Amino acid sequence: MQQLDFIHMRRCFELAKQGQYTVTPNPMVGCVVVRGGEVLAEGYHLQKGEAHAERDALLKIENAKGATLYCNLEPCCHTKKTTPPCLPLIIEKQISRVVICNVDPNPMVSGQGIKLLQAAGIKVDVGILEEEGSEINKTFFHSMKNAKPYITLKFAQTLDGKMATLSGDSKWISSEKSRKRAHKLRLENDAILVGGRTLNLDNPKLTPRFGYEEFGKVPYRLVVGNPEKMDSSAELFNDEFKERTIILSTNKDAAFSSSIKRIEIGSIIDWQNVWTKLHELEIRSVLVEGGPQVLSSIIEQNSFDAVEVFIAPKILGDGIAISGRAQELMKNTIQLSGEDLHLSARRN
Ligand SMILES: NC(=O)c1ccc[n+]([C@@H]2O[C@H](COP(=O)([O-])OP(=O)(O)OC[C@H]3O[C@@H](n4cnc5c(N)ncnc54)[C@H](OP(=O)(O)O)[C@@H]3O)[C@@H](O)[C@H]2O)c1
Repeated sequence: MQQLDFIHMRRCFELAKQGQYTVTPNPMVGCVVVRGGEVLAEGYHLQKGEAHAERDALLKIENAKGATLYCNLEPCCHTKKTTPPCLPLIIEKQISRVVICNVDPNPMVSGQGIKLLQAAGIKVDVGILEEEGSEINKTFFHSMKNAKPYITLKFAQTLDGKMATLSGDSKWISSEKSRKRAHKLRLENDAILVGGRTLNLDNPKLTPRFGYEEFGKVPYRLVVGNPEKMDSSAELFNDEFKERTIILSTNKDAAFSSSIKRIEIGSIIDWQNVWTKLHELEIRSVLVEGGPQVLSSIIEQNSFDAVEVFIAPKILGDGIAISGRAQELMKNTIQLSGEDLHLSARRN
């Protein structure tokens, strides 16, 4: 690999990020075509059903003979999708070298694209800036490898670990700045999940706001519980995005007079099973926003990948908090990566 290879691959990353909020359930991919030090064309994948990055770039070039194609993901060869595979076009355009960051973990592609390029006499270099590339497509890769979405638990708590008062008031624990960050998290995830009690008590919209509404993306909004107990006049069931709402129903016999989509998940929740059902809908990432009962149940089953917690310099006393099976020993805690948080707070 040469210095220029790194520069062009970093440019692929920048291009890939053009699809950051639109491309899911597909991966973020950028492509640069270079010959003799001159960039002939660039491309990226914006959304499912539209041209893949390689095609987007190559169709802009009349003569690409002998050029090098940089792409952060292995070019696709399978035809089971809405867009044509990129591989035949790369061969037809007489590209002589392909530089790839990540092998596609999609079982329909994985390694096949590379083999076919090599069989066509094209030099292939794989693995440049692999870690950076994996981070960009973290949720897609996770989803392909594990057949379930990337699960992030998000909550706000007081210094003494409470998420709401005993009466259920939780507006607001965290600052406006933290809530703004939380709205960006909504934008970054395919689905937001809450429990039935949070729905009834808070009547949340679960849409990205605080300046993020301009991106136009509304994630799936998932409510877990017994539909019969859910307030049918809630925002999620009646607003303009109600077709993005899904009830994860724990009571298959429950009557619920509404057109809202419903998935039966059984009265005793197995979260792994729930994630599998969401994977079938091509949901690659879920942000679990609580409340404490939902979070406790997921933590108890150790069925999550990341935590985003906002700790406010407030002390509440008795209140609602995450709970779960008590551990006898510290060695039995769920240890995540990251550092201790040291927060200094004082009276004004
Ligand atoms: N600080 C924060 O970040 C934050 C975030 C969200 C909410 N909150 C606050 O949290 C409070 C609500 O939390 P909560 O703990 O009372 O309720 P919750 O977690 O929102 O919802 C609990 C309901 O979800 C269903 N459910 C959850 N886990 C289940 C399981 N394993 N099996 C079966 N059903 C399950 C049940 O519905 P059914 O009863 O219908 O069966 C249960 O009643 C509110 O005060 C809200 O303001 C705070």
